[in-house]
Amino acid sequence: MPAKILDGKQLASQIEAELAEQVADFLENNGQQPKLAAVLVGDDPASGVYVKNKRLACERVGIDSELVRLPAETSEDELLSLIGRLNHDDEVNGILVQLPLPRQIREQKVLDAVHPLKDVDCFHPENVGLMVQGRPRYLPCTPHGCVQILHRYGIPVAGKHVVVVGRSEIVGKPVAAMFAQKDSPLGPEACNATVTLCHSRTHDLPAICRLADVLVAAIGKPRFITAEMVKPDAVVIDVGINRTEQGLCGDVDFAAVEPIASAITPVPRGVGPMTIAMLLVNTLAAARGQLA
Ligand code: GUN
Repeated sequence: MPAKILDGKQLASQIEAELAEQVADFLENNGQQPKLAAVLVGDDPASGVYVKNKRLACERVGIDSELVRLPAETSEDELLSLIGRLNHDDEVNGILVQLPLPRQIREQKVLDAVHPLKDVDCFHPENVGLMVQGRPRYLPCTPHGCVQILHRYGIPVAGKHVVVVGRSEIVGKPVAAMFAQKDSPLGPEACNATVTLCHSRTHDLPAICRLADVLVAAIGKPRFITAEMVKPDAVVIDVGINRTEQGLCGDVDFAAVEPIASAITPVPRGVGPMTIAMLLVNTLAAARGQLA
């Protein structure tokens, strides 16, 4: 039987509809519109598309957004002083610094400078620490998107073996931590998994992937996960967005894996739109958290 397609785009639209109502209530009750400031340094075309999509999503739900564009030659000090200004701007509730940054700028230094209450990406060490300890202020957007897809499609992960491939700070590490938690804002069935985190030094990766009830691919290599790496009826979450000569594709060889899996996220229309929806969730939460 072909796999169920986990439609992240449709789910994101549903979440946006819910959020639009909550944002309208927030505005009515507080006389203030939540606001996101997006910072884009340089002219990487993919980053430009991501930031544009994030701003369009803000507009759809009634969140105000401001784009600050800086040239590729911007120094670390210049970027840090912009972050300082946004940290002190009472109208700005959330700050998003689009990654990657140009080579002359240390990413960690910049992310550490974002005020933790305005850190809607959940990249600040204080927020990462709170999340890992199971008392999140914010949840990181892409990992939260993965968890929400499973939750909203009624796929519990408690007691299941989740195998995550890729140990990035943005996806692999935090998603592994989230699936392993004892409890979550979505309830105990959305976590409590047995988690294996695989990476470039993992021995016999295909054998470990074949143990997965839920396989999360976050490697950043086109069609890296092949049919031989997937157990029959596994659920496959593809976090990859790779630009190839044939267009966009994920980290999973969709055509080969889809007939084996019980459910799978497509690329595009899978995790990507959910990442943006979770950014909106965090921006509204930030506005609530900053009420005087
Ligand atoms: N670059 C790739 N993914 C992300 C993300 O989730 N947030 C930011 N700020 N930059 C990214």
